[in-house]
Amino acid sequence: MKFSQSAALAFAASALAAPSTTTHQKPARAVGCASAVTLDASTNVWKKYKLHANQFYRKEVEAAVGQLSDSSLSSAAKKVADVGSFLWLDTIENIGKLEPALEDVPCENILGLVIYDLPGRDCAAKASNGELKVGEISKYKTEYIDKIVTILKAHPNTAFALVIEPDSLPNLVTNSDLTTCQNSAAGYRDGVAYALKQLNLPNVVMYIDAGHGGWLGWDANLKPGAQELAKAYKAAGSPKQVRGIATNVAGWNQWDLSPGEFSKASDAKYNSCQNEKTYVTKFGAELKSAGMPNHAIVDTGRNAVSGLRLEWGDWCNVNGAGFGARPTSETGLDLADAFVWVKPGGESDGTSDTSANRYDSFCGKEDAFKPSPEAGTWNQEYFEMLLKNAKPAF
Ligand code: BGC
Repeated sequence: MKFSQSAALAFAASALAAPSTTTHQKPARAVGCASAVTLDASTNVWKKYKLHANQFYRKEVEAAVGQLSDSSLSSAAKKVADVGSFLWLDTIENIGKLEPALEDVPCENILGLVIYDLPGRDCAAKASNGELKVGEISKYKTEYIDKIVTILKAHPNTAFALVIEPDSLPNLVTNSDLTTCQNSAAGYRDGVAYALKQLNLPNVVMYIDAGHGGWLGWDANLKPGAQELAKAYKAAGSPKQVRGIATNVAGWNQWDLSPGEFSKASDAKYNSCQNEKTYVTKFGAELKSAGMPNHAIVDTGRNAVSGLRLEWGDWCNVNGAGFGARPTSETGLDLADAFVWVKPGGESDGTSDTSANRYDSFCGKEDAFKPSPEAGTWNQEYFEMLLKNAKPAF
């Protein structure tokens, strides 16, 4: 077809002006920002961005709401779907969740992701043993990290916050007597450094997992812990987008309870970090001397109730727990960038089925909720308990 330039302009103008009378298309949702996002990791990005309520957790919560007959509980439960939380990329297959999760992130939100697939994962426990075996580090790099990097690079207009490999480096500090952790050590160090280096993109801010006050907060662990993390950071070439650490991930510690929950325990004198606020402060000072950025985000997803654990180290599906503080950058401590929900409350920490391959005795302890399904699997009863015990209430 051939037509004059003026005809072409008239055609274009009428196409633009013509109101659509037959089709009512939904306005396109605002996805990401209009231009590339640059996160300044020397500042607290949570002052500007809100943790996104990702659609995977939203769907889990909505399904849970569907099972509730009590109307006041059900209207409270609906509100949980709107709370921002992190999405766990815990297997190569689950990288498939990332593209769909990106579809509804507005410019003012930041999508939280947990990088969690190291070879020989969860070396000191069994509940979260992963898909990659010790030695499969090149698979971790090429089939896991590189794939995530490609997707993040393809979405420069979206902001991302990453928690890097929960429990891994802390296990190397305190569980080096275990053969499993000795075997995992080289892969953890290499893998974390590789992740930090490759994921160092302008639209990404990273926090390396640092356990919690009842783990690296012991006086004897503070310095070696900070040095272990700083070593990974430096091995990665001191990436600009690393902001510091994530603490209390999937944990139960109180933020500023004083005296702390375990301050009457016989060994309390060996731990001056009896709450997370003190831990972030003291560990942060050690990070600074070790030459690593030291700001923190703290998981408050399930820490509403104290006094439930028999021992500080009890980590599996603690019975009686409740949803804690909602994500916010108002922490009252400069070193703490934000309270966030990292563990999706309602997903299990590990199975209580003693015959399962990944059964860990911690999930059978007296203070653990039973029955509980495999790690990461939804537990409706547990979710309802978290909701009933939430502080503040929903
Ligand atoms: C599990 C993961 C899961 C995550 C969040 C971990 O304990 O091992 O599979 O994605 O919790 O629920």
